[in-house]
Amino acid sequence: MTARVAVVTGAARGLGEAIALRLAADYDALVLADLTDRASGECAQQWEDVTSEVSRVRCDVRDAGSVRELFDRAEEFGDPVALVNAAGVGIFTPLLEIDEAMWDNTFAVNTRGTFLTCQEFLRRTESASAIVNIASIGARLGGDMLAHYGASKAAVIELSHSVARVGASRGIRCNTVMPGLILTDMWRQTIAFLRERDPGLASLSDDQVFQGFVEQMVPMGRPQEARDIAEMVAFLLGDGARNVTGQTVSVDGGAVMT
Ligand SMILES: NC(=O)c1ccc[n+]([C@@H]2O[C@H](COP(=O)([O-])OP(=O)(O)OC[C@H]3O[C@@H](n4cnc5c(N)ncnc54)[C@H](O)[C@@H]3O)[C@@H](O)[C@H]2O)c1
Repeated sequence: MTARVAVVTGAARGLGEAIALRLAADYDALVLADLTDRASGECAQQWEDVTSEVSRVRCDVRDAGSVRELFDRAEEFGDPVALVNAAGVGIFTPLLEIDEAMWDNTFAVNTRGTFLTCQEFLRRTESASAIVNIASIGARLGGDMLAHYGASKAAVIELSHSVARVGASRGIRCNTVMPGLILTDMWRQTIAFLRERDPGLASLSDDQVFQGFVEQMVPMGRPQEARDIAEMVAFLLGDGARNVTGQTVSVDGGAVMT
């Protein structure tokens, strides 16, 4: 039988890595793409227990050639039947300070990267299969600090609708997950940026600054964890969601209610 392969981008750390670890239970092989072919080391212990085949590929999702090579690699292991786009960038920046380079790079990674991998997946995949794109509650909130990021993620949601329509008759589903607030490197970079600007934050730890955002934004009053996102992704990729496509699901303790 042909091996079932899951491709996950942004899998070297953070949410992408947590999603990949969760998918190890469901797929024969994982092909993990990131700018680096090394894991952060944070989950080293958990990777030791994984029995699926794992291949790490250096891939820049902004680049079509790099994405083609990623799928060439994936096909060496079997049938790519699942794709998760978790590669992403974005730190808080006031709207009036976002320059063209920051705008373009945010869209290049978050939106073009997701487009290129979805397109390549649709070109190559014949089997019933599924895609999950990781957007963000930033796509639905507006706000001074996230104009570039939110717009790039809103584009991911609409792109996912098109992918879902194109794939539907071939049994290829595509859904989007909007994570809430998870303290990963992305948030740590944002906290470092905010601390530089606001002397009032200097005496607070990363956890304390982050908790302040959680209290402001999350009705349930607690942060999300990477495994919350990973569970939703696994569900949407799996057979339990066989009639779910073109949907956007928030995992955010009620921050965005749709
Ligand atoms: N952490 C949160 O609270 C949160 C909330 C909403 C959405 N998200 C989204 O979840 C996804 C994962 O975020 P995270 O918090 O784990 O961030 P992170 O910064 O820890 O991880 C992002 C990963 O993407 C990789 N990456 C960046 N540019 C790339 C490129 N050009 N090609 C390939 N890989 C690239 C990075 O190397 C890194 O490993 C992102 O799409 C992010 O926008 C995160």
